[in-house]
Amino acid sequence: NTIGVIFDLDGVIVDTAKYHFLAWKNLADDLHIEFTETHNELLKGVSRVRSLEILLNIGNVTLSDDKKQAVLISKNEDYLGYIKKMNADEILPGVKDLLNKLDSRGIKYVLGSASKNAPLILKQVGLLERFEGIVDGNSVSKAKPDPEVFLIGAKKLNLKPESCIVFEDAIAGIEAANKANMISVGIGDEDTLNEADFNFSNLTEIPNNFFEELIKE
Ligand code: BG6
Ligand code: MG
Repeated sequence: NTIGVIFDLDGVIVDTAKYHFLAWKNLADDLHIEFTETHNELLKGVSRVRSLEILLNIGNVTLSDDKKQAVLISKNEDYLGYIKKMNADEILPGVKDLLNKLDSRGIKYVLGSASKNAPLILKQVGLLERFEGIVDGNSVSKAKPDPEVFLIGAKKLNLKPESCIVFEDAIAGIEAANKANMISVGIGDEDTLNEADFNFSNLTEIPNNFFEELIKE
């Protein structure tokens, strides 16, 4: 009766949404697109390419494929400028306690992120070595809400999808976890993530016996 955990990165382990926003905002300004924090919600959990499409849609702007490639590169360079300054202080509350708890109970965990920068971010905050495996934007062909990223995660854990618990802050991620037939845990706003099997506002809220109760089922 083994279970395993799959963690999303951005918004669950670290708050990188603010850096994505700054970088997209810069690009939006260049393209004369009005882009707000509310718009930014639509980009959470979504791949880089898809994010650009959403941004261009908001501004009703069309770009050639070459130009798209160029702006994607410059957006990421901009974003990396912020990431390279990150350190362990930016790990979200409750993360380290939860990982310690999982370690002491022998419950394995992997990362399941849409980001191609995931390994770098984990390295910056000193968590890279702690995961049993990393599934990121480089290892998938279909982005969330497609379940691919989590199904690869289950393989890395050597577990059936039903035995995997996914922690996610994005609507697209909860949808992906549900499609994968996994237990979905929404971290953040309960109304936004109402498709999740469980909801907590952050990782400090997870009850001590949460995993034991799931193992019993
Ligand atoms: C997700 C973020 O984790 O990764 C999205 O929630 C982001 O906002 C996506 O667009 C892709 O990230 P990256 O680092 O590959 O541009
Ligand atoms: Mg996320």
